[in-house]
Amino acid sequence: MKAPVAGSPPIVGHSIQFNYDALSLIQKLQESKGDVFELNILNEDVLLFLTPSATKQIFLDPDDNFSSKHGWEFSIGPTFENGLMLRDFDDHKYHRSLLQNSFRRDALEKYLHIIQPRINSWIEEVKQKKEFYLYKSIKQLMFNVAVELFFDEVDDSKLNYLNQLFINSIKPATTIVRNPYPLTRMKKGLKAREELLEYFQDKSSSIDLSKETLFSDLVKTNKEEAGLTNFEIAEHMIFLLLAAHDTTTSTLTSSIHFLARDIDYQNKVKLESSNLSKIDISDLKNGIIGEALFNEAIRKYPPVPFSPRLVVNDTELEGYEIPKDTYIAAGPLVLHNDKRYWDDPINFNPARFEDSNVTHEAYFPFAGGAHTCLGKFFASYLFKNVIYKLVDNFEQITTDEDLKINPAPIPNPRKDVKIQVL
Ligand code: HEM
Repeated sequence: MKAPVAGSPPIVGHSIQFNYDALSLIQKLQESKGDVFELNILNEDVLLFLTPSATKQIFLDPDDNFSSKHGWEFSIGPTFENGLMLRDFDDHKYHRSLLQNSFRRDALEKYLHIIQPRINSWIEEVKQKKEFYLYKSIKQLMFNVAVELFFDEVDDSKLNYLNQLFINSIKPATTIVRNPYPLTRMKKGLKAREELLEYFQDKSSSIDLSKETLFSDLVKTNKEEAGLTNFEIAEHMIFLLLAAHDTTTSTLTSSIHFLARDIDYQNKVKLESSNLSKIDISDLKNGIIGEALFNEAIRKYPPVPFSPRLVVNDTELEGYEIPKDTYIAAGPLVLHNDKRYWDDPINFNPARFEDSNVTHEAYFPFAGGAHTCLGKFFASYLFKNVIYKLVDNFEQITTDEDLKINPAPIPNPRKDVKIQVL
């Protein structure tokens, strides 16, 4: 069986509409074409599968038919080459097993300790200002957290520069001009990658291995014991920064906005928080209300809304023949907002996750299979740590502004909103 093709304007294909409002675009196409159809993104034809069963098969990929490396390459490839998600099969398994070490429970607990001064100073700043621009403030906070865990920087004056390099390296992911012509995002992004690579290589040689940051742990376990080069470590670090930063920023942004509009739920989180330590992992795991908020935020606005793969062997998926070299994609964003699987999916309603015994067949915020998010536990602990500290420190957080989020390629607000604290 062959999948229907969704027609699109030449050259730009669906890219502009996709970047503007991917969910509406895909839902509209889905109404006329069904759950499997081809569209054109960033100059490539992509076969999109929008059922839970196909999504599961794409992620589990038991026969190694679907390449994550070549799937992601066409958006983040040039600037995040050889990051974990840009590796496949045996090579990926080997590198993942090395990196996994730095995500052990005792290491995560240490990371949480290390970042507390940054989170505390953010709380103090909010206390003084009494109001803050939500996305801007959380983005800066998550960068400051990354500074502690991912960089080895004592010179604070360099941080803005590093932040700019990081921003420039992400921008090419969504640009339609894929060649590095002068002054393009791609050109700037590749230059930023080079500088970041130099930074991390340099620091890999000099970092104090008794430090307990993610960077020093990675150097310790992988350079000393597994023999990775400084260059390989630098490539992993750049990707880890990407994987950790916007994902946690967008999740905290939508959740804090929700709390500021739903005082009853805010009070529930406050009550739960009052009985929990904010940095003890066993305690954080007991935070069911906080976890439900986290789960709902990544349902409604999954930080990785679509996962592309390149088919590397002729194969078949749900009756559709897929020749080698076809791009396919799973779309958690669309599944998470599909009325067939969720009651009132438009509504941001954390209560749907409060009963942890209920399973959700159309829920893939962390993908699945070999590339399942490596930072998923850390992301949830960090999230709860920030949320609990916020509700603990203020009598009330409020806003009267609506938050409109553009859900793809990475969820971010169309316009930032102000939050007030009492
Ligand atoms: C709410 C937060 C987060 C969400 C929803 C999320 C989601 C995801 C998803 C869906 C993937 C796989 C994409 C695919 O297979 O196509 C992924 C991969 C990954 N994530 Fe996360 N992520 C989050 C936070 C983090 C954090 C905080 C870190 C690190 C500290 C991290 C590290 C990684 C890594 C290393 C991979 C690549 C895994 C591999 O290819 O084996 N993530 N993430």
